[in-house]
Amino acid sequence: MKWIHAKDSHEMSRLAAEFMIQEVKKQPSMVLGLATGGTPVGTYQELIRDARENGTSYKAITTFNLDEYVGLAGTHPNSYRYFMQQQLFEHIDLPIEQTYLPNGEAKDLMAECQRYEELIARHGGIDLQLLGIGTNGHIGFNEPGTSFQSTTHVVTLTKDTREANARFFTSLEEVPTHAITMGIATIMKSKRILLLASGEEKADILYQLALGEVDEKVPASILKQHPDVTIIADTVALRRVKEQELCGLR
Ligand code: GLP
Repeated sequence: MKWIHAKDSHEMSRLAAEFMIQEVKKQPSMVLGLATGGTPVGTYQELIRDARENGTSYKAITTFNLDEYVGLAGTHPNSYRYFMQQQLFEHIDLPIEQTYLPNGEAKDLMAECQRYEELIARHGGIDLQLLGIGTNGHIGFNEPGTSFQSTTHVVTLTKDTREANARFFTSLEEVPTHAITMGIATIMKSKRILLLASGEEKADILYQLALGEVDEKVPASILKQHPDVTIIADTVALRRVKEQELCGLR
């Protein structure tokens, strides 16, 4: 894993966007894996700014998001589809029909998981997957204990994750109890992975990621076995890692 130290969340977002733009320019028809949550928002803003100022084009790009809540329509303001439309898709020249998220309203959720997994495979897999990280080490919605062999599946969200995400809803009761997420094996098949972390609340989990064993109790720990992972994290998120002077940070 390559660790990049950003001074703050703005710099993290700028460096992440530069990384992604470079890949898009190298491979204009690449398959991008995208993430939701608070962390990538600044990166998406940088991508939008760059597209406006420098004309970077996403016309031939295909995107797959990591996850979607079960039971929310794409038009629901808290669905991840809606989030992506607002935060990125509507502001760049990416054709909407080339953007994919799991359908959280599918009647047969198991079939939907299989369809999503196959769709990714049919597009040749993900070239670059953007990831955030939960304070318990979850990636996508793969909570601690999820099998490293898992493919796209339905998950019951933990109390902690629902509470953490309640900030986007008007009350905790409104947060869906289930979601569809790419599995850990799905994520690990991506050719490159870019994980972002910012804020003090990520300091403990980054420390565990840097120092700990590969263990299903910490889903993100499997990334240590991936050949091409870059982590961009800001100073406060890296506080505990840096205390240990572990990673030859720049
Ligand atoms: C959510 C998402 C993850 C995200 C994580 C961290 O539950 N499903 O994809 O990485 O939590 O969120 P944040 O970036 O807001 O800290």
